Amino acid sequence: MNPLRPAILAAAGSERVKRTLTTSPVTAPLVRRFVPGETRSELVAAARELLASGRAVSVDFLGEYTTDRAQADAAVAEYLALINDLAALDTAAVPAGAAPLEVSVKLSALGQWLGPDGPAIATENLRVLCTKAAEAGVWVTVDAEDHTTTASTLAAIRRVRPDFAWLGTVIQAYLYRSVDDCRDLAAAGARVRLCKGAYQEPDTVAHQHRADVDSAYLRCLDVLMQSSARPLVASHDPALIAAATDLAARAGRGPGELEYQMLYGIRTDEQTRLAGRGEFVRVYVPYGNQWYGYLMRRLAERPANLGFFLRALTTP
Ligand code: FDA
Repeated sequence: MNPLRPAILAAAGSERVKRTLTTSPVTAPLVRRFVPGETRSELVAAARELLASGRAVSVDFLGEYTTDRAQADAAVAEYLALINDLAALDTAAVPAGAAPLEVSVKLSALGQWLGPDGPAIATENLRVLCTKAAEAGVWVTVDAEDHTTTASTLAAIRRVRPDFAWLGTVIQAYLYRSVDDCRDLAAAGARVRLCKGAYQEPDTVAHQHRADVDSAYLRCLDVLMQSSARPLVASHDPALIAAATDLAARAGRGPGELEYQMLYGIRTDEQTRLAGRGEFVRVYVPYGNQWYGYLMRRLAERPANLGFFLRALTTP
């Protein structure tokens, strides 16, 4: 584990750090590497390029932990417009096997934190998005946030998924509960995006050491591969990608029966290599002006990105 990770994730809550990053010319290129733009038109341009290269997309309108009803409503409105814009894009270069277009949503952006009614509001908003997405031929996957939201998020998905079988769930391998969650989702034949997990979590709920997280990832992946679920291998880790390829071969899964998923701007060469050998590759593309929490999680994952970060903090 990167020793600076807790400090960087703590900085995710700092207004001063956020102001510095937002105004410093040093950090602008770093932000652009991970977030192609703040507007929908910038997002559409990036998505068009990815689709033309044969990679599917999952688009995230950035925002999280909303405590304001108007903001949650605005997020829903933006997603509805986004689904419209995505549906107009040319997807002919993406291989068959799954919808080339998808949106990723955080329930905390859709109202989950709006007091006691929050979970119900977020669930209803998720249903609104799924209804629109179904009309447009776009799929939806629900992101996984910090562990205090896990039970509520999985409950919302359980409620909505019977009407939208393609509704995807994200599982974080670092949580102790995740192997059991994978078993439940595998039994239901769900689409499951398996990632390591990006939040700072206590040892009461999550593995703390890289080797333990990697082992847990492989246990979860094995459960999914052996089932009728669709495993969505969300990792840039070469060892896990190779293991996924082996497990898929052993389970008799062809290229259209699982997905390799990576974040925009990370290991683009590997995305292209996998797509080139006929795999279904999906790139998670975030956009919007609420990029700060997302960027902090990317910095915490990768010590090499810290140089930019520290320079930004010391640039007047
Ligand atoms: P690991 O962190 O070990 O990285 C392996 C290699 O990938 C590194 O050595 C480096 O080469 C490259 N790399 C990884 N991160 C990098 C970075 N930031 N910058 C540059 N290079 C980098 N998490 C979560 O908690 N909830 C969620 O909903 C999601 N959703 C999600 C969707 C998709 C499609 C992906 C790919 C990931 C997520 N994540 C997530 C994030 C995930 O939990 C995890 O934090 C990151 O993917 C990093 O873990 P890796 O598996 O890539 O391995």
